[in-house]
Amino acid sequence: MAKVLVTRRLPDGGLDPLAGNDLVGPKPHDEPYTKDELSALASECDAIVSLLTDKIDADVIAAGAGQVRVIANVAVGFENIDVAAAHAHGITVCNTPGVLDETTADLAFALILAASRVMTEAEADLRAGRWHGWAITQYLGRDVHGATLGLVGFGRIGRAVARRAEGFGMRVMHFARNDTGHAGYVEDLDRLLTESDIVSLHCPGGPGTHHLLDERRIKIMKHGAVLVNTARGTVVDEAALARALHDGHLFAAGLDVFEEEPKVHPELLNAPRTVLLPHIGSASTATRTRMATMATSAVATVLSGGVPPNVVPA
Ligand code: GLV
Repeated sequence: MAKVLVTRRLPDGGLDPLAGNDLVGPKPHDEPYTKDELSALASECDAIVSLLTDKIDADVIAAGAGQVRVIANVAVGFENIDVAAAHAHGITVCNTPGVLDETTADLAFALILAASRVMTEAEADLRAGRWHGWAITQYLGRDVHGATLGLVGFGRIGRAVARRAEGFGMRVMHFARNDTGHAGYVEDLDRLLTESDIVSLHCPGGPGTHHLLDERRIKIMKHGAVLVNTARGTVVDEAALARALHDGHLFAAGLDVFEEEPKVHPELLNAPRTVLLPHIGSASTATRTRMATMATSAVATVLSGGVPPNVVPA
């Protein structure tokens, strides 16, 4: 029987693959463990099932060296884990690719529609009793059909968004680090930004994409463009984005992720035509359950000497 740290509460059924093991955690009110707590637990556990809210850095990994055999993150992203440090100590790292693409693409498309059509502001007015009847000049948004959509990143989620966009009669272009060989590929991110009416981000987080959309790049976006981010908050310079929304250079933004979650930049909170969601991209019951099961199955496989399909490569 192995000892497995499960840092946060998982959806029903998510722990089934670990039946028969000694499970530690989560905390009674599901608060994230502190770094010291994670280090202490790592030194006595054979495996860790972690979430994006757990910072598994080099110190935590050093504390678990020689003890922890696998860390499985219940997320497709894994920038919260120092993968190089884990590999240096022979610890396998797993994530949950493939099971959340369609659900996250649904949410990206919801944000494209909600931001372009000013839904949040219109609904807030209605709920607050500020809507005094129909008028032809009210709540005028931007058409999504027929618009040019620029996808930054063209992995599984980006491609799933592209499929949805085709149904809306959009012109779709995409930027990726390497030529994808697909129609609509542009090798110059700046060109994509200057030509798109709506830009949607689908690249990984981490140091390689930190502030990929910095002030200069936000400024070269089309006047009146819409920005949607369901990737990682760190990809966008939030302060620069807030300025561009306040000064009217950008028409709207739809954001599901933030630079310092759960904090939201105050100037985004009061920016016009901005739809803000609390990181719910993959949050359907079915998908979150699949993610949990995929991560816990990977732990069970490693503990029984196997190699799961969802290992993060070196
Ligand atoms: C969610 O943001 C994930 O990386 O799965």
